[in-house]
Amino acid sequence: MKILILGSGGREHAITRRLASDSPAPELHAAPGNPGIAQLATCHDVAVTDLDGQVRLADELQPDLVVIGPEAPLVAGAADRLREAGHTVFGPSAAAAVLEGSKSWAKEIMAAAGVPTAASVTVAAVEELAAGLDRVNPLADVPYVVKADGLAAGKGVVVTEDRDAAITHAEAVLTAGGQVVLEEFLDGPEVSLFCVSDGTRVVPLAPAQDFKRALDGDQGPNTGGMGAYSPLPWAPDGLVEEVLQKVARPTIAELAGRGIPFVGVLYCGLALTSRGLRVIEFNARFGDPETQVVLARLASPLAPLLLAAARGELAEETQLDWSEDSAVTVVLASAGYPVTSRSGDPITGIEDAEQLGAHVIHAGTALADATLVSAGGRVLSVVGTGADLEAARALALRATEAIGLEGSHHRSDIALRAATDEQAANEVTA
Ligand code: AMP
Ligand code: GLY
Repeated sequence: MKILILGSGGREHAITRRLASDSPAPELHAAPGNPGIAQLATCHDVAVTDLDGQVRLADELQPDLVVIGPEAPLVAGAADRLREAGHTVFGPSAAAAVLEGSKSWAKEIMAAAGVPTAASVTVAAVEELAAGLDRVNPLADVPYVVKADGLAAGKGVVVTEDRDAAITHAEAVLTAGGQVVLEEFLDGPEVSLFCVSDGTRVVPLAPAQDFKRALDGDQGPNTGGMGAYSPLPWAPDGLVEEVLQKVARPTIAELAGRGIPFVGVLYCGLALTSRGLRVIEFNARFGDPETQVVLARLASPLAPLLLAAARGELAEETQLDWSEDSAVTVVLASAGYPVTSRSGDPITGIEDAEQLGAHVIHAGTALADATLVSAGGRVLSVVGTGADLEAARALALRATEAIGLEGSHHRSDIALRAATDEQAANEVTA
């Protein structure tokens, strides 16, 4: 089987890596890819935003399957263009990807489908802001949640107890011509669950947890994600089934009923609140860096799953096999991320990290005269696996610390609490 993967980040490297370990191994191509992906696939110099170039490349290669990684080309209509040209595509149409591209539309779909989510108000003008904030948080007793309506690479959301800061963020989005969604604050732990759909049927992957804030202790600004782990030993039994029943299936059915079948990954970002399960956000693709840990644990072959979804032939009773191992990833970010990022700094120590037993996913790297250098905010995603979360976490951290990148930073508490709780629970049962 020949597969073309579109994208250049950590998610696409993780997808490529997992596809490469299918048996029989598919022939892999990527566009544009990155230096990590290039070790596993033939990379083609076509930008993520170059839809014409992507169609030309697919026409030339005639892959059995095209997998679209990032949201930007999906929202821009890459899947539509490729399908029109006769290709088999894993990734939603532009119309379906609006689920990620517009938080206000996602709210509308959830309301129509009866999917539990935070109460919200969409605001289009600065004059409506104060009344909107009063409506979603009348007692001003919990943090304000202000979201840019459009795509923002995970950085459009501000959660703050400071009303002035909420207003400042909202005004910045509004004066730039966007809308904001003001939301009720959701307490409780977050879970990311990827649901593969062929437009009507849904097959869930394993749940993961992402760490959105830049700094240890969930301090600092929101980022695209600074680390993740899977499985979630603390998650209630039946969580995945509950998400399927209350969230994924009704959403997929609502979209299908509107003539907008969703083919790809419906990423359900969830909060397990004191009042029950709520959707925080939908994305129209695999999450980054959760993909790095989820696919590291997937024991079933990946290519047939994605191909079946792309063909509209997913078997709902598909039972995927999962490794008993835990996986933890730590993201190594460049100086200044998420506010700015620094590129062009040499990266050292990847081999040392891998000799420790971890694997290193490239997220924002480039080759400059045969030297591997940073090329973005999130530079590497270091994945450790082990018998439990503590083993996986310790390995991921040790390996991250073996890597040299001037000015870089990473969190040291990814999966810490879950690992500690898991060990305590094991001691009780031992
Ligand atoms: P989003 O881009 O919508 O996933 O938001 C990014 C992050 O902001 C989420 O992962 C949460 O940590 C936080 N967040 C978003 N919406 C809410 C909410 N309604 N209540 C509490 N935290 C939220
Ligand atoms: N890790 C969050 C996201 O992929 O949107």
